[in-house]
Amino acid sequence: MDYSKYNKAEAIPEAASMIETFRAIGYNLEAAIADIIDNSISARAKNIYISRIWRGGQSVITIKDDGEGMNSNEIIQAMRPGAQNPLSDRSETDLGRFGLGLKTASFSQCRKLSVLSKRKDEIPAFWSWDLDYVAQSDKWELLQWIPEEFANELDSLPSGTLVVWSDLDRVLPTQTAETDDSAKRKFSDTLDKVKNHIAMTFHRFIEDKTIKIFWGEHEITAWNPFCPNESKTQEQPTENINSGVKIKGYVLPHKNNFSSEQAYKKAEGINGYPAQQGFYVYRGKRLLLAGDWLGLFRKEEHYKLVRIQIDLPNKLDTEWQIDIKKSKAYPPAVCREQLESYTKSVRAVGSEIYRHRGKILKQRAGQNFQPLWLEKKKDNKWSFVVNREHLMIQDLKSLAKEKPEQAIEKLLKFLEEAIPTKTIYINEAQDEEMQKTPFSDIDITLIKEVLLLMYNNQIAQGKTPAQAKALLKIQEPFNNYEDLIDELK
Ligand SMILES: Nc1ncnc2c1ncn2[C@@H]1O[C@H](COP(=O)(O)OP(=O)(O)O)[C@@H](O)[C@H]1O
Ligand SMILES: [Mg+2]
Repeated sequence: MDYSKYNKAEAIPEAASMIETFRAIGYNLEAAIADIIDNSISARAKNIYISRIWRGGQSVITIKDDGEGMNSNEIIQAMRPGAQNPLSDRSETDLGRFGLGLKTASFSQCRKLSVLSKRKDEIPAFWSWDLDYVAQSDKWELLQWIPEEFANELDSLPSGTLVVWSDLDRVLPTQTAETDDSAKRKFSDTLDKVKNHIAMTFHRFIEDKTIKIFWGEHEITAWNPFCPNESKTQEQPTENINSGVKIKGYVLPHKNNFSSEQAYKKAEGINGYPAQQGFYVYRGKRLLLAGDWLGLFRKEEHYKLVRIQIDLPNKLDTEWQIDIKKSKAYPPAVCREQLESYTKSVRAVGSEIYRHRGKILKQRAGQNFQPLWLEKKKDNKWSFVVNREHLMIQDLKSLAKEKPEQAIEKLLKFLEEAIPTKTIYINEAQDEEMQKTPFSDIDITLIKEVLLLMYNNQIAQGKTPAQAKALLKIQEPFNNYEDLIDELK
């Protein structure tokens, strides 16, 4: 297209409204702070310090690093939304992508973002975005301002960067009093979640000692979702799929096989075992997504110990549709089949733990353990039958001679309670085994006998034959035997 032929008109975004839009990208606090930490890691920081200062509505969060830092012009460049083209290639270790993170992550939490930074052998420089000023002036203008108390914050470091978030209107109401204890507790709980999120998101950096992250005075320890140090963790082989993507499954030990109760509790993670099952997607060493089956499977109770690591090189950002918040990914069609088949095999190992547990419990009770329900297999189809050898069934039969109603009620109650739902559930999910169709091999004379019994009783109670038959036709499973019902006399 020959652009020179056409008239042009500038359509520059309105600063005041556009910058408010950045706030709506939907970061939560933990994802926002992780995005700031990404920048520190990309700037080769060794130490990252996160501080939160409680002052009620005027509370402040700061993230400081000892990375390469920026000079004044570089800060201005860094503060420009979309400073870097998302399509340009990034180095393997660069965790950024859209040139937006610093701004969008910050604005999603606060109205004032200040950056103080210093390159080696240079004096520190600082710039701030103040959303109130942008709203007032409607200009894309930074202020050369930083909260007074932080102006000397980098003096002790050769180089580094300090990010300050003040006016945290998305974290807590700005009119909150400093003395408001319940708000203080909430603030502290919210931040505890952030700490756990960081321990997980950056665990590989912490483990290989690339970085140390300090939470106030304390160093954050890594939380590895795969418990590689637990001796009973079952590591699965690594598989290479499609253009540099690697996948490796882990099945965590059953509760009783963890080294300690405490270790089991810790391994659970922020959201608990059932929720933490799934894929853990890493871009470089950075965790993007934790415990998500990426739409390929559903979360199910008996797979709760299954966690699968997926490693993506950052050149696949577009194919995997990595979003701005770096908290979403979608496997492209070419990967899906391999992902699915690998995952099925790991999930089978995971559910085996529960089958196995069942067997152990049975053995423990001695050799003649008598379950109420027995699993039966015929022609590769499974079904469950009531165990006629069970002592209680024998005894209820004799009780039935004297107190039939009581006996039947007791029997039904126990059968209801003991339905082996868990095993049924596991069987159901393993598609190679099939459930026997109910009533498919039942003796037809038994059905006829019971039908006749029920029919005669209805007639004895004064129903007409038509009424009795209509009633039988709506009783499971006799609704399937209309012909037999019509034949009744
Ligand atoms: N802590 C930091 N240390 C050094 N440079 C930084 C830091 N934070 C941000 N920058 C610079 O600002 C740029 C923009 O950051 P950001 O908005 O997060 O986008 P992206 O990370 O996608 O490049 C980065 O590419 C980097 O050059
Ligand atoms: Mg970034």
